[in-house]
Amino acid sequence: MDRVRFRTKSAGETQRVAGLLAKDLAAISFHDHALVVALSGDLGGGKTTFVQGFAKGLGIRESVVSPTFVIARTYALKKGAYRKLIHIDAYRLGGAGEIETLGWKEWIKDRHAVILVEWAKNIEKLLPATHFDIHFEFVSANVRDITIHAEGI
Ligand SMILES: Nc1ncnc2c1ncn2[C@@H]1O[C@H](COP(=O)(O)OP(=O)(O)OP(=O)(O)O)[C@@H](O)[C@H]1O
Ligand SMILES: [Mg+2]
Repeated sequence: MDRVRFRTKSAGETQRVAGLLAKDLAAISFHDHALVVALSGDLGGGKTTFVQGFAKGLGIRESVVSPTFVIARTYALKKGAYRKLIHIDAYRLGGAGEIETLGWKEWIKDRHAVILVEWAKNIEKLLPATHFDIHFEFVSANVRDITIHAEGI
């Protein structure tokens, strides 16, 4: 798949795009692993904002807050093929070991899980070969360039 690159001009716009994308991505299912979306790029680039829109697109009503200090938060999905959304912030992870103790190996084996990982570069070696990469660039106060790429597809 080619890279898809677009520009958003507000947080709301990033959330709307994320919501639409969530519905498309959740229509794809893998036989033996979770749907993994790796989020990378600038501090304040919009990764958490994107996850908020993505969660809303999948029908999650709870407010999604950054899992910076807890590393991972799980939300139940009530409709569709996926049963849960796991939001991970790998920013503070020292290495791969810490996320493995939280249950990473079981999470990625779960074909009913959607996993969104902020600062995914910190656990790059642990990502399944097939996953989606979304990169955020800070352009100016309200403008972000977002690039989407399917890895291994
Ligand atoms: N076009 C835009 N898209 C996304 N966020 C935007 C946009 N314009 C302004 N913002 C603002 O930028 C901030 C993005 O913060 P957010 O926490 O989503 O970034 P992040 O990439 O998760 O940061 P961190 O690296 O600290 O985890 C929010 O305050 C949001 O309202
Ligand atoms: Mg964040």
